[in-house]
Amino acid sequence: MESNMNLKDKVAIVTGGNSGIGLAIVLELARQGANIVIDYIAHPEATEDLEKQVHALGDKVIGVMADVSRVDQLQNLVDAAVKEFGRVDIMVNNAGVETRTSVLDTTEQQFEKVMNINLKSAFFGTQLAARQMIKQGGGGRIINITSVHEDWPMPGNTAYCLSKGGMRMLTRTAGVELAPHNILVVGVGPGAVATPINLVTMNDPALLKKLDDAIPLGRMAKPEEIAKVVAFLAGDGATYITATTIFADGGIMQSSPGL
Ligand code: BGC
Repeated sequence: MESNMNLKDKVAIVTGGNSGIGLAIVLELARQGANIVIDYIAHPEATEDLEKQVHALGDKVIGVMADVSRVDQLQNLVDAAVKEFGRVDIMVNNAGVETRTSVLDTTEQQFEKVMNINLKSAFFGTQLAARQMIKQGGGGRIINITSVHEDWPMPGNTAYCLSKGGMRMLTRTAGVELAPHNILVVGVGPGAVATPINLVTMNDPALLKKLDDAIPLGRMAKPEEIAKVVAFLAGDGATYITATTIFADGGIMQSSPGL
């Protein structure tokens, strides 16, 4: 097996790990030797399929039924990692949704859904993982999957931008607070990635062309291209990166408005 076992015996939690960028992260971390806990709320069959794929790589993934917008259920993920694998080394706050609604038409329910799944889960995921990392000693890595829209307006996707902007400050502030424990907190900011969150664009050839044309590299990212950045940040090559965001966006942020 072609592999770099950079993460051998590390234990990771990846929220939203059974689809999109999260799924690619699980597979890449497993390829590099980590054992992983993911949450699921629907589609247990997707989680079972993933368990088999990871098993084939020689590692273990366990799926825990959990709503990541609930603090007690996030704690269940940490508890499952400790029970099954003895510790938590890497927390990836990846779960995310968007509503593509503007400030004028976003409902209270849409607002709460986006903020709870994207920001509240990242905040408490950081808190609960950091508490466990401090308890076990030896530091850790917390990786927040944000977006170019942590900083860059996307008109028509306001609550999403707000949640990602919050994650930007979570990364910076928690990164400073947790540095004395050698817990590194880093954001990964993708641009447009070919995942279910972008299906509307991907299913509309005119919109997709407009998006591809706006990206200096001329195409959306594959989820694996984001996963490799996450694995790097979780590994030995990234011991001095904290309280900041690494963007992997094909240059889009420098060239055009959010699409
Ligand atoms: C959003 C996508 C958008 C992309 C580039 C992502 O964070 O989820 O809807 O296409 O940013 O603007």
